[in-house]
Amino acid sequence: MEPKIDYITGDNFGEYWIVVAEFYHGKFMSPRYPDLLMQFLKRLGVKKVLDAACGIGEPSLDVVEKGFPLSLSDGDASMLGVCQARAKERGLDIPIFHSKWIDLPKKTKEIYDAVLCLDSSITYVNTWAQGEPAISINRARYNILESLKAFYDILAPGGYVVIGLAKYAFEDSDELIIDYGTRLVEGVPVHHIWKLKWDFATKIKSFTLIFKFAGKTHVKEMLGYMLLPNELKTLLRKAGFPDISIQEIAPGEYDNNFVAQKLL
Ligand SMILES: C[S@@+](CC[C@H](N)C(=O)[O-])C[C@H]1O[C@@H](n2cnc3c(N)ncnc32)[C@H](O)[C@@H]1O
Repeated sequence: MEPKIDYITGDNFGEYWIVVAEFYHGKFMSPRYPDLLMQFLKRLGVKKVLDAACGIGEPSLDVVEKGFPLSLSDGDASMLGVCQARAKERGLDIPIFHSKWIDLPKKTKEIYDAVLCLDSSITYVNTWAQGEPAISINRARYNILESLKAFYDILAPGGYVVIGLAKYAFEDSDELIIDYGTRLVEGVPVHHIWKLKWDFATKIKSFTLIFKFAGKTHVKEMLGYMLLPNELKTLLRKAGFPDISIQEIAPGEYDNNFVAQKLL
């Protein structure tokens, strides 16, 4: 599925994300990223891996295409629909299923060597694509912990959970603007910008996505939970993971990756 101008103004968030990914992954994921992710998984020594925040399949479909089969799941039907369509387009026959993280132990009978939740996805536990005017911080915190416990439950002893948390969460500032510049979408010059703001007191982060083309500006805003590194470590321990390290998958990537192992 190629990016289309209509996806920017339409109401299918998965299609909208195809256009976003063109800019975002173009900046933060080098063409080597899928190979580096595969090498990272091989270093962990894992075989049966679930990407539990597969979204539209970036970068997991590339990893599968390169010969490392993954299972994919996501909690947003429009993202998953695009992922399934793209997998079919590429002739990839892998399990792709809909599940909120907290429902995973009910939705799958499988036990995995690793569960991936990359791309700062965890911070949008209740709010992805929904444009909620308000966010319940207590509910988000509770659901993050319950999600980590669900990941624990579907892991084999000795298995790993890998949680990506955007590097900006490690910086002592309260705003980040990422200007992705202009790219052609169906021959039309499109300018894309992200504005991320977070409030350390309320723990709310806002993620504003801006597209400018043909003299108009199109804006979407999502709210998320301002999860900080130490809180993620605390929640991982509460969920049952005693050993946590931060590991690099690829230079220049968007996330720091928290790797935590279930006891043997
Ligand atoms: C930043 S996107 C990453 C997607 C993927 N890396 C991509 O670019 O295609 C975050 C993903 O996490 C998923 N997500 C957020 N909260 C979730 C939850 N509670 N359960 C399952 N998936 C969730 C969203 O639906 C979304 O696809």
